[in-house]
Amino acid sequence: MKEVLKLKTGEKVIIRHIVESDIDGVWNNFNEVVEEGIYLPVLFPVKSRFEKQSWYNNLQKDKEICIVAVHPNLKNPCNILGQCEVSSLDWDAATHVGSLGIIVQKKYRDLGIGFHLIDMAIRESKKLNGKEKIILSCFSNNERALNLYMKMGFKVIGKREKQFYMDSQYFDEILMELWIDDYILNQP
Ligand SMILES: CC(C)(COP(=O)(O)OP(=O)(O)OC[C@H]1O[C@@H](n2cnc3c(N)ncnc32)[C@H](O)[C@@H]1OP(=O)(O)O)[C@@H](O)C(=O)NCCC(=O)NCCS
Repeated sequence: MKEVLKLKTGEKVIIRHIVESDIDGVWNNFNEVVEEGIYLPVLFPVKSRFEKQSWYNNLQKDKEICIVAVHPNLKNPCNILGQCEVSSLDWDAATHVGSLGIIVQKKYRDLGIGFHLIDMAIRESKKLNGKEKIILSCFSNNERALNLYMKMGFKVIGKREKQFYMDSQYFDEILMELWIDDYILNQP
């Protein structure tokens, strides 16, 4: 599956499945968000080539979904504007559930890329992996992300208070979920 998105800046962005040459771009985006220090409960950037490649190899082995947003006129690895991954849970009895994570490069936020990444990741998770429900978690002060998730139909199903402690500050974790059939019904 592949989609072309026209941003309000006039730029075109391709939304598609990840390929091996996207690895560095994806990890650069991840490390940028780690450096921002307010969105993910991760303290250290990933620098190791082995770790980056192993992540990709496992993704392929487990046939997990990773959708990327690609700028056709930018050079690799800057061309990867964002990514959305849906991973399987560890439980044998929860193969119908996918766990979603998403990142968009700082410069390209609020342009609709996040919406389109999540949309394709949800649909492909059902089509290719038989997922029925998507779960995610988010810091309670991440208003942009929460706004986007709720707009797409995710429901808040719980809160873990002071779940994370970073930079001398506690963060509550909001837990959300979405049934894919409901999503497809509401956003055909
Ligand atoms: C969260 C994230 C993935 C969203 O991607 P994006 O491309 O910026 O999302 P979109 O442009 O599709 O949608 C963002 C929406 O939030 C809105 N928004 C932006 N800032 C907001 C704020 N402070 N409060 C409420 N809504 C806000 C935008 O207006 C937009 O809504 P609209 O389409 O109805 O106008 C991206 O901003 C990001 O990578 N953030 C840092 C990492 C992160 O938070 N990851 C998720 C961790 S749970």
